[in-house]
Amino acid sequence: MGPAASRSIVILTGAGISAESGLPTFRDNGGLWEQHRVEDVATPEAFRRNPELVQRFYNERRRRLGDVSPNAAHHALVALEQGWPGPLLLVTQNVDDLHARVGSRNLIPMHGELLKARCLACGAVSTWMDDILPESRCPHCDLQRQLRPHIVWFGEMPLEMNRIFAALENCGLFVAIGTSGTVYPAAGFVNAVPPGTRTIEINLEFPESNTRFVEQRRGSATERVPELVSELLK
Ligand code: OAD
Repeated sequence: MGPAASRSIVILTGAGISAESGLPTFRDNGGLWEQHRVEDVATPEAFRRNPELVQRFYNERRRRLGDVSPNAAHHALVALEQGWPGPLLLVTQNVDDLHARVGSRNLIPMHGELLKARCLACGAVSTWMDDILPESRCPHCDLQRQLRPHIVWFGEMPLEMNRIFAALENCGLFVAIGTSGTVYPAAGFVNAVPPGTRTIEINLEFPESNTRFVEQRRGSATERVPELVSELLK
């Protein structure tokens, strides 16, 4: 590993980082997947079968974003990006806009973004702050009934995989925050880093005993992330 690589950081976040902002996770008690079947709302087949139901699920989640604010963990990651002397890539599985709202810049929302709509007819991706309704028109081609949430559904390819794996293959520190590590390819990122890379996992709990991470830090994201960031910037 060269000096530049050892200074490179890749951070992966999951729903746990936004939990203390008031957004539900997927797999905890009361999580989104306890209340909805994935096959009903988060697959291309579900959207073909019942677009109204799928749009309603994402419209409700999009509206929720207006009621929540970024927390100390989101803020700490901006401080790290600004203060760190090497490259830092923040990859999030979250479709909320909380990282972007606080100013994280080198950010890849690999599972898409609630505040964007994609046109099935022309492919354009547009900023979308309101509900997507049947009468909504694509701002690019003006057609109706063509917009879908810009969300990666099960069975679809996450976004910007080449850029993410290139960063992982060159990193000296990989940190995963608030993710259950159950959904691939994100769950496999820890295996893509060079041998000897420092890997840290931050989570409220660690149900499995055999972890693939070098360090596990138990606790809430709003405590553990600012703590880690001050350590790294010392
Ligand atoms: P999960 O709901 O699977 O996992 C959330 C994790 O966050 C759990 O391991 C919790 O223990 C942890 N957690 C909860 N509150 C926390 C807190 N305050 N501080 C630290 N950790 C906390 O969510 P993800 O791993 O993000 O994909 O789920 C991955 C993907 O599965 C999502 O992006 C979504 C979902 O299906 C798609 O929709 C494509």
